[in-house]
Amino acid sequence: MNRLDFVKRKNNKEKISMVTCYDSWSAKLLNSTEVDCLLVGDSLAMVMHGFDSTLPATVELMALHTKAVRRGAPDKFIVADMPFLSTRKGLKESIDAVEALMHAGANAIKIEGAEGHCELIQHIVQSGVPVMGHLGLTPQSIHQLGGFKVQGKTASAEEALIASANALQDAGAFSLVLECVPTLLAQQITEQLKISTIGIGAGLHTDGQVLVLQDLLGFNQDFKPRFLRHFSPGADWFTQAVNQFHKETCERSFPNEQESYS
Ligand code: KIV
Repeated sequence: MNRLDFVKRKNNKEKISMVTCYDSWSAKLLNSTEVDCLLVGDSLAMVMHGFDSTLPATVELMALHTKAVRRGAPDKFIVADMPFLSTRKGLKESIDAVEALMHAGANAIKIEGAEGHCELIQHIVQSGVPVMGHLGLTPQSIHQLGGFKVQGKTASAEEALIASANALQDAGAFSLVLECVPTLLAQQITEQLKISTIGIGAGLHTDGQVLVLQDLLGFNQDFKPRFLRHFSPGADWFTQAVNQFHKETCERSFPNEQESYS
């Protein structure tokens, strides 16, 4: 998969799958799956570091995780998130952040929001770096949005989202995440754009889907928003396996002779 395949897939009406990945061992497993693309999302601040928002993610942290993912998944197309405010400190700092993520092994970077970003996106794209946009629920603006809520529900919000999607396409973005957007609006944007849309909580009609790996594996049973499907009982098998190890250790049935050195 490369940047050009995103539009080819759209034109051929073939869906694109993307999952988040933050570490080397899951990257290694994902490298041998059929998933199209990995996202080193700034959601790692929440999933891997236990923060209650993505705001604490920094360029250094994103680069560290991107390096780990690239070591595990040498063959995958990797998109890395530009973290909170990293696009707002002037051109030099923004380009330094892009450089850090690309040197860490990313193939593309993702930027949340369109307003105030289009010139920068143009500059990044003209510098040879593919940019993925991200509209709808943009978690870096969580305080401005007043919580994790579905976006684009009023006529004016709909209009604004459509205008932003077009602006990102015009600026040179090769693809666009639509997060928590009503199905019909996501469909309308997908049909209007030449670039591909990747949905999360945006219904069936986007050109692809993205989920947080730990969410789709069912590792967090308490987190079950409407859009999420648990594709495995991850938390159950994790707990069962660790409890089994504990039990067999206490019973002295682990390790057995074959598992020991003579
Ligand atoms: O950081 C992230 O995980 C994301 C996805 C939800 C698209 O941006």
